[in-house]
Amino acid sequence: MQYNLNNKIAIITGATGGIGRALATEFYSMGTGMVLTGRNIEQLNMLCENLTKIKSDAPAPLCICADLTTPGIEEQIIQHAIEHFGRLDILINNAAIIEGQMFLKTDNAFLEKMMHTNFTVPYTLSRLALPHMLKNKYGRIIYITSVTGYTGDAGMSAYAASKGAVASAAKSIAAEYGRRGITANCIAPGIVDTPATKKLPEERYKELKNMIPARRFAHPEEIAYLASFLASERAAYINGQQIHINGGLVR
Ligand SMILES: NC(=O)c1ccc[n+]([C@@H]2O[C@H](COP(=O)([O-])OP(=O)(O)OC[C@H]3O[C@@H](n4cnc5c(N)ncnc54)[C@H](OP(=O)(O)O)[C@@H]3O)[C@@H](O)[C@H]2O)c1
Repeated sequence: MQYNLNNKIAIITGATGGIGRALATEFYSMGTGMVLTGRNIEQLNMLCENLTKIKSDAPAPLCICADLTTPGIEEQIIQHAIEHFGRLDILINNAAIIEGQMFLKTDNAFLEKMMHTNFTVPYTLSRLALPHMLKNKYGRIIYITSVTGYTGDAGMSAYAASKGAVASAAKSIAAEYGRRGITANCIAPGIVDTPATKKLPEERYKELKNMIPARRFAHPEEIAYLASFLASERAAYINGQQIHINGGLVR
């Protein structure tokens, strides 16, 4: 029997991005009620319009257009989700900024922006979502981290640290709440075919592809398939893990 995610409610941050759109499509197809966040209202509206063309018994998604660094926005998102759907089962912390600066040029303003968006926001959302998950003894907190947070990379120390911090927090959440039906896991993609990676210079694109045993970047849908499995009841025994999905780039 196939698993499904109907009767579940999920928040997906960064739904307007390359991976976010694939996540929203996968969860909508599985019947999940969703709160979708992004900063770009046109992209959010277009995403919601496209979702409704998919055959699904999912309720219409609730879209929230907001900058996640706005003070207090995390409380508002959780509150809207509960007011609208009455429960919360799944949180996918996907929104992030992917930017690099060489180590000696990394000033504190850049570091703080990176840590706030990529670590503090997912951490805060998780803390606020958890009490609602505990009520139903079911919760799936999923973080989209990165191979870079695991291996490090030149010019990416702040980004890597933000993702490494997330992976570390997930392990502690798993340790604290695993016995109460909650799992907290990370999905660490290698390089994914998204609008951002399509902008790479052709030479660099080829060079990166040749480094990957699969000789291609991940399709965003491949990240979404793993996320929907981790969100399902079938993944109840996977907890505190960082699952690498990188075509064999890191073994
Ligand atoms: N692409 C890759 O190769 C790759 C590899 C490893 C890990 N990842 C991870 O995968 C996740 C998704 O990446 P992606 O490639 O899909 O990136 P993307 O296309 O740039 O999308 C990023 C998303 O995050 C949102 N976002 C960023 N900063 C925000 C803020 N301050 N407030 C609200 N929303 C904000 C963006 O919203 P708007 O577009 O509406 O502004 C967008 O929806 C990230 O966590 C990234 O670190 C990506």
